[in-house]
Amino acid sequence: EEQRAELRERIPRLLQEKDAVLVAHYYTDGEIQRMADQTGGCVSDSLEMARFGAEHTASTVVVAGVRFMGETAKILTPHKRVLMPTLEATCSLDIGCPAEQFAAFCDQHPERTVVVYANTSAQVKARADWVVTSSIAVDVVRHLHESGEKILWAPDRYLGEYVQRETGADMLLWQGSCIVHEEFRALELTELRKYYPQAEVLVHPESPGAVIEQADVVGSTTQLLKAAQNSSAPQLIVATDAGIFHKMQQLAPGKELIAAPTAGHSASCRSCAHCPWMAMNGLVNLASALEQGAPEVHVDPQVVAKAQHSLGRMLDFAA
Ligand code: 13P
Ligand code: SF4
Repeated sequence: EEQRAELRERIPRLLQEKDAVLVAHYYTDGEIQRMADQTGGCVSDSLEMARFGAEHTASTVVVAGVRFMGETAKILTPHKRVLMPTLEATCSLDIGCPAEQFAAFCDQHPERTVVVYANTSAQVKARADWVVTSSIAVDVVRHLHESGEKILWAPDRYLGEYVQRETGADMLLWQGSCIVHEEFRALELTELRKYYPQAEVLVHPESPGAVIEQADVVGSTTQLLKAAQNSSAPQLIVATDAGIFHKMQQLAPGKELIAAPTAGHSASCRSCAHCPWMAMNGLVNLASALEQGAPEVHVDPQVVAKAQHSLGRMLDFAA
């Protein structure tokens, strides 16, 4: 505890000394989120993280999240130094979509517009026509569909199926999944809803279709937080990473937040849905990254140039 108190003082000082800003995802530990909030950084979903890092004037961006978020920051501002508490923090969607296999898949379907989820490596983004995050996937694909384009989508199959249902677009799907969200269980959720008939159900679209079907609101982490804030229900059943409860409870102080049931856990378990890679970010490795100037995120300049194009399209579309 003494060490934590010392870190809570040391990190803001280091951020200032190193002209650095901390950008954290909602799935990281509450302590990291608090640090980002208190030091003028930002806590947000992956779309806003990308935008904030790119627009901020600090010469160093520290990304507390997973690797693809650090890479996105680097791609958007290659002249800045991008640090992460650890480069080991990856994502099952990124792991499940190796760049070479993905390129071969694209080559087999040259007539399709390639749309990839932000949860991918820089190389995969470089091969794509468009990058999207969960907050904007439906809007972008609808736009492409209305322009008569057929889509090749990767890597998250559940998000892909959801977007397909919402837009009616012709989509060929890569079969990746998020190990956290794919664990949410539809039958158990149906049972839980019987106990809480007034509860509103908030679901991240990386969850299986039968879970999404029961949602009152489907959206990115930021969209779910907004829904929680505006909801008039006494309870919220939440199907996304438990890290989100930190912010959600602040935004919806009077509400009871209930974790949606996952495979093999009781409905009352608040932390069973938690991304093991997001959990690798802590105060100790955050302070060390600032002190050492490492680990630093590097992306091949040729990859940067190509990925800037697909990412830039998303940011322009969102603007
Ligand atoms: P958001 O874009 O909703 O923050 O999602 C990122 C992510 O990794 C979800 O698992
Ligand atoms: Fe990837 Fe899922 Fe972790 Fe998000 S929660 S970073 S999608 S493994």
